[in-house]
Amino acid sequence: MCGIIGYVGDRDASFILVQGLKRLEYRGYDSAGVATFQDGSIAIRRCLGKLENLERLLREAPISGTVGIGHTRWATHGRPSEQNAHPHRAGKIVVIHNGIIENYLELRAALADRGRTFSSETDTEVISHLIDERVQSGQDLVHATRSVVHELEGSFSIVVMHEDSPDRLVAAKSATPIVIGLGENENFVASDIPAILDHTRRILFLEDGEMAEVTRDRVTLSTFAGDPVAREPRTVAWDPVTAQKGGYRHFLLKEIHEQPQAIIDTMRGRILQEQSDVSLDELAKADWLAQARRMVFVACGTAWHACLVGKYFLEHIARIPAEVDYASEFRSRDPVLDEGTVLVVISQSGETADTLAAVETARERGAKVLAICNVVDSSIARKADAVIYTHAGPEISVASTKAFTTQLTVLYLLGIYVARRRGVLSEPGAHALIQDLVNLPSHVEQCLKRERAIEKVAKKYGNARDFLYLGRGINFPIALEGALKLKEISYVHAEGYAAGEMKHGPIALINEEVPVVVLLPKDAVYQKSLSNMKEVESRGGRIIVVTDAPSPELEDIAWEILPVPTSNPCLLPVLLTIPLQLLAYYIADYRGTDVDQPRNLAKSVTVE
Ligand code: M6R
Repeated sequence: MCGIIGYVGDRDASFILVQGLKRLEYRGYDSAGVATFQDGSIAIRRCLGKLENLERLLREAPISGTVGIGHTRWATHGRPSEQNAHPHRAGKIVVIHNGIIENYLELRAALADRGRTFSSETDTEVISHLIDERVQSGQDLVHATRSVVHELEGSFSIVVMHEDSPDRLVAAKSATPIVIGLGENENFVASDIPAILDHTRRILFLEDGEMAEVTRDRVTLSTFAGDPVAREPRTVAWDPVTAQKGGYRHFLLKEIHEQPQAIIDTMRGRILQEQSDVSLDELAKADWLAQARRMVFVACGTAWHACLVGKYFLEHIARIPAEVDYASEFRSRDPVLDEGTVLVVISQSGETADTLAAVETARERGAKVLAICNVVDSSIARKADAVIYTHAGPEISVASTKAFTTQLTVLYLLGIYVARRRGVLSEPGAHALIQDLVNLPSHVEQCLKRERAIEKVAKKYGNARDFLYLGRGINFPIALEGALKLKEISYVHAEGYAAGEMKHGPIALINEEVPVVVLLPKDAVYQKSLSNMKEVESRGGRIIVVTDAPSPELEDIAWEILPVPTSNPCLLPVLLTIPLQLLAYYIADYRGTDVDQPRNLAKSVTVE
């Protein structure tokens, strides 16, 4: 996500802001900007691309001042551009923002009716206009900000400057992080501790629904309701690298733990619980989607596993014929495509060369392309006819985790969306599916709470040379994903198989040396998978079962049981994935591999 820094003190603000933003570069960004109080007004410098560009701009057109704010933007609303880069000004107000304002279109329309004009495509700009309206009517900055946050729906943290209050910043937090750093005759605001760690280790953490008024010698905390908050600062002992990882040992572990929030961010604003429907504004003009005769899913690696689950959703929920292909294979065959076919491509980065080539092939042959991407305005997103973004935030570790579970979240939403528009899903049916999705983040939290038990299992089996993963139906792709995760980060050989295929060959591999991870949800194929498990047991395989239905019978057969909460069969793939991610992580950690940068792998494969 985006990076935020603010400074109030006696030193050169623009230098401190840019240095702080550099400490947040690891999060990924597409544009950057700073604003400082200079000679009675606020000066802003923004640019597209890397911080080097901003530094060059500041050399060419320097800004002075000892109070200011800085931001690196990871695009969500509006493409990456100088106009969409933060800070955003309206009248006397300048704002930087992290997160998503769900009701911004509504707010923007109301502001336009009141005569306000906009210079960007962002949701952020509405915040600066709303606060400016209030300061224009005589409210001070704190009161104006407080009254505006009540109007905003979504997750956000903001930092605000007011041209008539040159000695202060006001910060507010709803769901995305904000910390206040305390110095001597200077104070700091940041989205993440690394941004200010060079200057102070005394940190005040804002909670959701709290605000801070920050001057050089005072920090005043209050709630959105206006009640004062008393809180002691904490002294953090993190070194800069640990701080970037949010205190986790690796980005991968941090990203595994970010999944409940990433899923919330991905479904936010897209579910209409009362109407039992899904709202995907990005598909407003894509009537070809509901009219499609067939869908072809195409991707690479983990995203290809998401495609396999997506095929199941679209067939099962929306009753539309679907097939799946590797992007590298799709582009090299002679696919039959026409205007009744929709190509659904999935890519975290939006830059994978084979997937991009598949998009071009499909477009040349007259098919429509729907992309599911995590990176706004990436090459695939630009070439597609429509895009649904996952809001996983930057995924830094090479192995994909939160991108995968947010891809499944989007595919589930897509299944409901298409099904409703094709008239094949009743209102009560959609209502039940949506309710289960709302509960998903807390179920993922419960999976994560079993981390210590999974770590113990990982240490016990961490020396094995081969693993087999078995799953059936919608969970077969999860077996593939579990095996991929293990092999790419721990370098242990692992195979994922459809459980029913085991007796057609892989059963020959089974002996006392081979741990077999069996995905065994209590679904329609439970008994069949249980029979496969017994076949493994009778050949001496060491069974690790992942299930939402632990039982004494399973205890007799399995060496280890990794329980997950239960849900509807379409959401169990997400829940079964979490223990597999943790198992792979802890086996890799036990074996001492380079977890975040595994050998031979690149985050974005931009070559064929
Ligand atoms: O950026 P993309 O989603 O298009 O990347 C696709 C694959 O390269 C990617 O999922 C890869 O398999 C990961 N290393 C899996 O963890």
